[in-house]
Amino acid sequence: MPSSAQFQDRMLSLGLARVSEAAALASARLIGHGDEKAADQAAVNAMREQLNLLDIAGVVVIGEGERDEAPMLYIGEEVGTGNGPGVDIALDPLEGTTLTAKDMPNALTVIAMGPRGSMLHAPDVYMDKLAIGPGFARDVVTLDMSHAERVEALARAKGCETSDITVCILERPRHDEMIAAVRSTGAAIRLITDGDVAGVMHCADPMTGIDMYMGAGGAPEGVLAAAALKCMGGQMYGRLLFRNDDERGRASKAGITDFDRIYSRDEMVTQDVIFAATGVTGGNILPGVRREVGWMTTETLIMRSKTGSVRRINYRTPVEKT
Ligand code: FBP
Repeated sequence: MPSSAQFQDRMLSLGLARVSEAAALASARLIGHGDEKAADQAAVNAMREQLNLLDIAGVVVIGEGERDEAPMLYIGEEVGTGNGPGVDIALDPLEGTTLTAKDMPNALTVIAMGPRGSMLHAPDVYMDKLAIGPGFARDVVTLDMSHAERVEALARAKGCETSDITVCILERPRHDEMIAAVRSTGAAIRLITDGDVAGVMHCADPMTGIDMYMGAGGAPEGVLAAAALKCMGGQMYGRLLFRNDDERGRASKAGITDFDRIYSRDEMVTQDVIFAATGVTGGNILPGVRREVGWMTTETLIMRSKTGSVRRINYRTPVEKT
């Protein structure tokens, strides 16, 4: 039975950082080796091992897939020692498997934790996503607007020209029309090949130069990105996209009844959470794992939505101990 102890987000955040760090260190050995599966597996193994050391009664709600598809960190898997608060966990041990295999920027290890029932149990389907950073009135942009209207509305709210706006979009044929519509406004587009959790997080960090994220990507990644924005500030919307009955069935199994619903950030993540991400390959938000003779160094972001605090932890460890 999970303990009724309160979710100690303050104390657990360091533990979460260790989990995230371990996954990054494990997958770092496979950066640039062209093997997505091996890099992912290394991250999964390390994340699971560290998670099981935490004094929590955790349940994976966003994980590596359904129980019959994923031997480890599957949805519903119980993790932690069992001695501690009952918590829900959303994770992606390696967000950007191809980025890692090809040594391209912005691969991260990502994990969020909150009280039971705090995060949408998103099935493994696509989600139409829209995100902007903090400081804007609610609903200044919405998923119901056309792609061009979103750019125009954000430019008005920022008091700038549409040509001053930069939108981040996953480069996929399914986004060709969206890309053309955004370009027609004069806005710039930063195309990314993978990694839309980082893509969304970019909106909340002015240093990245990204104003808005839009496009379809994984729904589990959508919930992780919503958890990150709940900590960093910013708005996000998501609508599940279904290509067939099997995908609708997955949603029903996850308890979803309204297939057309647009979820706001706080409807995807309904209570305060903690979030950790470690850079695997270097990017705009986090540097990658640094490998020197004898040493490995990571940088991890740890954030708490309750306080809005954002910490960065540098961790250096001798290679022989990893
Ligand atoms: P993986 O790390 O599992 O390869 O996912 C990377 C990713 O780019 C996500 O960030 C994104 O949500 C999703 O894949 C997009 O899916 P698709 O490649 O099918 O367009």
